Parts: sequence; C-alpha cells; structure tokens
Amino acid sequence: MIYNICNRNYNSPILTGHCMAVVEDLKKEAGIAACKYVKNGMKIGLGTGSTVKYTIIELGRRIAEEDLQIMGVPTSEVTKELAQSLNIPLSDLAEIGKLDLTIDGADEFDPNYNLIKGGGGALTREKIVALASNAMVVVADDRKQVSTLGQFPLPVEVTVSNWESVKEQISHICPGDVNLRETTEVPFVTDNGGYILDCNFGPMISKPDVLEKRINAFEGVVEVGLFVGICDVVIISSSSGIKTSTKPNGRLS
Ligand code: A5P
Repeated sequence: MIYNICNRNYNSPILTGHCMAVVEDLKKEAGIAACKYVKNGMKIGLGTGSTVKYTIIELGRRIAEEDLQIMGVPTSEVTKELAQSLNIPLSDLAEIGKLDLTIDGADEFDPNYNLIKGGGGALTREKIVALASNAMVVVADDRKQVSTLGQFPLPVEVTVSNWESVKEQISHICPGDVNLRETTEVPFVTDNGGYILDCNFGPMISKPDVLEKRINAFEGVVEVGLFVGICDVVIISSSSGIKTSTKPNGRLS
C-alpha cells in the first residue's frame, strides 16, 4: 500500500521518489480514462495541469493513430504549446462558439461536484472555456477528493493595479493568510497579465456559490477559482483503480 503513505501535498518532504512515481501513474490513468467521452467531430476544451496533460497526449495519439477528428480550444499558453506539438487542431471560442465538452483537472472537488481550480494559474480561461461547453469532465486522483472545499488555498485572479486592495478586502472574510503568488520572489503573472492571490480559507467553504459571488464583487477581481455547478463527471484514480463519478441529473447522466 505504498500509495497510502503518500502525502496529499506533492511537495511534501515525506513524498518519496517511489511515491511520486505512483502519483504520476494515477494522474496518467485518470487523464487517459477521460478520453472515452471524446468522439469524432467534437469540439473539446483542453484544460491545464499535470493530470489533463495525459488526456491531451492521448488525444494526440488517437489523432495520429486512429484518425480521430476533433477541434480543441486550449485554456492556457502551456496547453496550447502541448497541443500544437501533438498536431491537435486548435481554434478559439470567438471562432467556434459552443464546445461539446471540456476536460480539465482540479485542485479539489467536493461531493456536490464543486471545484477549486487555479493551482496552475489558468482559472480564468478554464472557467470561460468550461462555461462555453455542453459538459465538463474533471480528471483527478483521489487526493483531490474532499468533504468540504478550502484546504487547498483558493486562487483568485486579480488585476495588477488592484491586487493590494483586493487582498485587504478578502483578508476581512478569510480566516487564514491571503498571499500574492510568487515565483522566485517576483509575482506570478497569468496568461491574461493578472496576479493570483492564494486565500487560505481552510476546509470550510460549505457554500462555494455564496463565496464566489462575494469575492467577485470586489473591484479588481478577474475571476475566483471556485467552479460551482459546472462539473458533470469526475474521473477519480486511486490505488484501487479508476472510478467514474457522474453527477445525478447532470449533463452526462
Ligand atoms: C490550472 O490552473 C488548474 O486549475 C489545474 O487544472 C489544477 O490545478 C489541477 O492541476 P493538476 O492536475 O496539475 O493537479
């Protein structure tokens, strides 16, 4: 049961090399399993992250080897580059409008299929693309499954000019620290030219719809990494295999 000693945090000092390899295998299994929803002719939103990366690689393989015909809309520059390297035909929402399906990762998901996203900083485009889709499938390993959202710091994209005032306002409603995301001591900049505030609410976001609206009302907020009522299916990989969890009365039920 090597997997069971894996800490939830990828960067934990107790995550051994072997354990990291196990987690990588779980990501790969979930990412590939989601491809069962992809059919010829579909327009697909391509998410961002280390799990959905495997979905995109598998779609590239099916295009090359099985003549799969799809059109992708990437949710980040990183995903765009990966998809281009795999010869996946790409477009944008302005050109093709509605999508059949989005497949993406998540940082947390709760029993109501609500999500925290944005660990990779792509939450704004991810939400735009997911909302333009007829359905959303999330790929994740079981470390992401929680009873109540919020242990993972909630990412909020903000404008560069307003980040300090937004931080101040969120601090009044957030029990833990609100931190400007940095990479090597300079602010992390999103594909949209914004900053990210990581907000440590703790596992207490029982009404994510209410919190999302409240934070979105602060001037300078671009998007909140809460995805409420958007996800229809979560493909969960664990040491005991793959489980497909379908939202009752969802768009894929
Ligand atoms: C990107 O901004 C995020 O929303 C990712 O989808 C999320 O962080 C999951 O990524 P991993 O699959 O890398 O954990």
